[in-house]
Amino acid sequence: MADDAKRHIYSPHPEGYSQARQEQYKQYLRKLQHNFIDSWNEKIECNASLGDFEKIKVLGTGAFGVVYLSKYTKTGKYYAMKVMEKEKIVKMKQIEHSYYEKKILCGLNFPFVVYMKYFFKDNVYLYYVLPFVAGGEMFSHLRKLGKFDETTSKFYGAQVVLALEYLHSCELVYRDLKPENILIERTGYIKITDFGFCKLVRGRTWTLCGTPEYLAPEVILSKGYGLSVDWWSLGILLFEMSAGYPPFYASDPMRIYEKIVAGKYRCPSHFTPDLKDILSHILQVDITKRYGNLKDGALDYKNHKWFKDIDWDSLLNNRLQAPFVPKIRSPGDTSYFENYDDEKVKESPVCLYEEEFADF
Ligand SMILES: Nc1ncnc2c1ncn2[C@@H]1O[C@H](COP(=O)(O)OP(=O)(O)O)[C@@H](O)[C@H]1O
Ligand SMILES: [Mg+2]
Repeated sequence: MADDAKRHIYSPHPEGYSQARQEQYKQYLRKLQHNFIDSWNEKIECNASLGDFEKIKVLGTGAFGVVYLSKYTKTGKYYAMKVMEKEKIVKMKQIEHSYYEKKILCGLNFPFVVYMKYFFKDNVYLYYVLPFVAGGEMFSHLRKLGKFDETTSKFYGAQVVLALEYLHSCELVYRDLKPENILIERTGYIKITDFGFCKLVRGRTWTLCGTPEYLAPEVILSKGYGLSVDWWSLGILLFEMSAGYPPFYASDPMRIYEKIVAGKYRCPSHFTPDLKDILSHILQVDITKRYGNLKDGALDYKNHKWFKDIDWDSLLNNRLQAPFVPKIRSPGDTSYFENYDDEKVKESPVCLYEEEFADF
């Protein structure tokens, strides 16, 4: 087999992921962490302006803004431009989160997460320009198919494990894992987007944020929490990908929270014993028993039976065949995204909230 050929059959090491390999991998992560901290301590200046871009189409909308497919006119390259209205950020008390999002996006460098290519602000808005991930949201694919087979869930889930391990090694808690924030690359691999709730935490934090179905019990119980919340949401994601619906569900968020803190869920009968087993180690209300949060960290995932087909180093290097590869017809192809109405652009002759965003 040619050295750079994709492997069609996953061929893991028979002995699993050894402590020694994990030590070596952690050294690599430490390098990435240093790079992240260097970027964090640097003041990064705006490096473009709105006039450099042509806005083409709305790709998605969220609580604070709109994401557009945009073309950088100097190079003709396509990007996703997240545009957030300063007024909305201020009214929803998200100034701090928007600073974090910018600083974090500027420092990220990992295969399965997006990063910031350009950013700038004007009188009304903040702009984050990210690589355009053309295969659309995992959410759309999941709803279209109903559910994924376990091979597919495993392929995506394993990348999320590596992404969380990377973020956590940078002391970042992500806090918004869900299929809407996971995008599919043209290669069929994932990119996690939306760092709007991501935060650098040393120790504990208290803010209630995230999405009801994906909230960890310790967030709901306002106990103060840390990186463990992301591992919980990975459990919800593995369940939702394989079942087509989340494990704790109700139409009223309060009922969802009651179910989450009780920690009781039922797996569909088609789940394999290995999937049920890994879920039982993740959806643990007691964080001292939750996988990812134990002394071996992410190694517990890398060596669990459900993931035994995954060769983690090949996965990191995009050398496993993806179960689904989107058909992208041209660089700016948006056919994997829903259609949205164009947003009306606001203008102002004076700079709004200049002080609040002075350091942006
Ligand atoms: N880099 C990207 N490439 C393609 N689409 C993107 C990208 N980033 C975000 N989107 C689309 O825009 C949507 C909203 O972006 P997101 O950052 O999640 O905003 P919000 O914080 O408002 O949820 C995403 O769910 C996705 O559909
Ligand atoms: Mg989002």
